[in-house]
Amino acid sequence: MLDWEEAWRSALYGPSGFFVRGERPSGHFRTAPLIGQELASALLSLLDRVDHALGRPPVVDFVDMGAGGGELSAAVRELASGSLSRRLRVTGVDLAPDPSLPGVRWTSSLEPSVGLLVAHEWLDAIPCPVVQGPSDDPWLARWWPLGEGEWAEVGAPRDAAWASAVASVTGAALAIDYGHTADCRRPTLTGYRDGRQVAPVFDGSCDITAHVAFDSAAAAAGGSSVLVSQRDALSALGLTASVTDSDPMAWLEETARAGRIAELRAVGGLGDFGWLLHATGPVRVSDLLPPLPAWRPNPASFPTTD
Ligand SMILES: C[S@@+](CC[C@H](N)C(=O)[O-])C[C@H]1O[C@@H](n2cnc3c(N)ncnc32)[C@H](O)[C@@H]1O
Repeated sequence: MLDWEEAWRSALYGPSGFFVRGERPSGHFRTAPLIGQELASALLSLLDRVDHALGRPPVVDFVDMGAGGGELSAAVRELASGSLSRRLRVTGVDLAPDPSLPGVRWTSSLEPSVGLLVAHEWLDAIPCPVVQGPSDDPWLARWWPLGEGEWAEVGAPRDAAWASAVASVTGAALAIDYGHTADCRRPTLTGYRDGRQVAPVFDGSCDITAHVAFDSAAAAAGGSSVLVSQRDALSALGLTASVTDSDPMAWLEETARAGRIAELRAVGGLGDFGWLLHATGPVRVSDLLPPLPAWRPNPASFPTTD
């Protein structure tokens, strides 16, 4: 019988796996850090709130977990200013080769940190068992009960990964991803190659991904957390677009920026991503975000290959 998790792991992370051989995610799919620096700007606002709640420690970390090509790390390093910039340590964590970005440390495994850890589209790339029901798997029994012949992706490996990521940071940990909760489960395994969604093939030729079970990941990590939409979180962090300048060059730049922000907030697109935010140590979720509506899935954002 095919061991899906093992096949998935070796296709992405084996000796010549998709990510480990240095394949740049940017060549195959468009994530928010690749659109521009606007996500980094919003995350710096969040980091500033974490920093404030921690009492402005001498060194404050921004950890980019599953950093890919390091685009988010590089933008955070470049945009940081003032006292935060002087105390800021930016670390990209990935199994992929170090892209050698100025001011960005690169490691292949998590280290303890004090500040903000962001896992942008990391959890969806963690291989997990793909099973057909019925099954006596305890994770499925708790989070995704299966009927005869139904398929599911078992979230336990993502839960364990997220629990250790949250435990590694004093401050806050944020997973930004596409996902589902118990009331809207659906199998979502799919592949991406050269910018197109393709059938998942376990030969290292494409990225393989499945939506994240946000509710089980949150429960596994424990502590205080919220799950909100990217659209609402960006507004709460002050990322808004306005086009006001009458100078033609400034107008062009403002218009382009407004377009990038609209893409990050789009209904049926990146705006529907979930932000699973955990506060750790002395920090409280209420130090970081105002009360926001709970994240709801948009059926239009599920993959369409089935
Ligand atoms: C879908 S890509 C996202 C890249 C980037 N964060 C972005 O949004 O553009 C997932 C990344 O997670 C990395 N990754 C997966 N498991 C990892 C692990 N256990 N440790 C470090 N990096 C990991 C992969 O190598 C890959 O670069």
